[in-house]
Amino acid sequence: MMHTEMKNKVSPENWKIAAHVVDLETSIIREILKFSSQPGVISFAGGLPAPESFPLETLKVLAAEIFDNHGHIAVQYSLSRGILPLREILAKRATQRGTPSSVDNILITSGAQQGIELVARAFIEPGDYILTEDPTYVGALQAFNYYQARYATVEMDDEGMKVEQVRKKIEEFRPKLIYTVSNFQNPTGITMSEERRRQLVEIAAEFNIPIIDDNPYGDIRFAGKNMPTLKSLGGDGVIALRSFSKIMAPGLRLGWMNGPSCVIAQFEKVKQCADLHSNTFGQYLAYEFLSRGLMEPHLEMIRKIYGDKRNLMLSEIEKKFPSGIKWTKPDGGLFLWLDLPKHVSARELFPKAVEKKVAFVYGEPFFANGGGKNTLRLNYSTANKEQIVEGIGRLAELFKANF
Ligand SMILES: Cc1ncc(COP(=O)(O)O)c(C=O)c1O
Repeated sequence: MMHTEMKNKVSPENWKIAAHVVDLETSIIREILKFSSQPGVISFAGGLPAPESFPLETLKVLAAEIFDNHGHIAVQYSLSRGILPLREILAKRATQRGTPSSVDNILITSGAQQGIELVARAFIEPGDYILTEDPTYVGALQAFNYYQARYATVEMDDEGMKVEQVRKKIEEFRPKLIYTVSNFQNPTGITMSEERRRQLVEIAAEFNIPIIDDNPYGDIRFAGKNMPTLKSLGGDGVIALRSFSKIMAPGLRLGWMNGPSCVIAQFEKVKQCADLHSNTFGQYLAYEFLSRGLMEPHLEMIRKIYGDKRNLMLSEIEKKFPSGIKWTKPDGGLFLWLDLPKHVSARELFPKAVEKKVAFVYGEPFFANGGGKNTLRLNYSTANKEQIVEGIGRLAELFKANF
């Protein structure tokens, strides 16, 4: 009796779960994924790496060796900043690629998502402004919303954030942070041009505002020329967030940050509150993968898979889509972006798409301050080639029937 009465009283409100948690929206993408995982649905909705890209056999061998050679260390508690050999090799790699770094600049995180969360925890007080691209990564908005951030948004074109708008936005909103996904952006697939990168680091330095360059896709370039990273241009003014999710496997939940050592020391404290440290065993796996020179050939393989799938999706779109639609042509990463005719709502199209057994993510949730009604995101990394051909055909029919 007692037990039932108690149970009946349980609700987030009765137990006074913090209002800012109760009010937080669940990720709309995760909701959409529920529909798109129905049987027979061809999904361009998720952002999952291609399952065929996972280096399973290699990881199996490395895991066995780690257990045999130093298993008791690999499953033990470890440093909040991350195991030393992994930080050393990541610092060396960054240095070779134009960002002089030491182990003190590196903090291992549980994915780039935790990097975003640690940044938000460390910097954001309720009502603070963050300057972001419009649209931007919805997982970052979710993390920032938890801390009750507000947004100064900057439009994009095919060279990325329109940096000429940034000065005015800074003067008007005094943002604490500039958050950007400069390479093969999620959701648009757009990459910031070199000139805009140079302008952005200059303006940020002038106002002494840190740039957070969320860069999980930087290594997955399959077309166009390499560009200097914001970090290599902006030095200590930039905190780079990186990830093993798209270059090894997301289930490892591993990423890293590269930032000024005095700021990394602050993040270390915040990380201790969050989870003490990231998965020790996964860190040893990542270290072995890097130190044995396995990463570069693996990246080549991933670039080939994604480049082929992106080419196929673009050629099917060109062949089949009706006029009035614009799309991006990403040089890397996992996503492309559609602008439908202005009067069309991609959100309203979504249930009809699921009826036709094809799924996408409509664009609105990616816009921090609203908008983007006629936009949507397509992922090309997860579906296989037959599904890409069939799925783009289904979308083309949907569009023709509804414009
Ligand atoms: C821009 C961006 N940042 C961060 C993440 C999260 O990545 P991770 O798996 O490393 O936490 C994603 C994942 O899709 C992303 O697209």
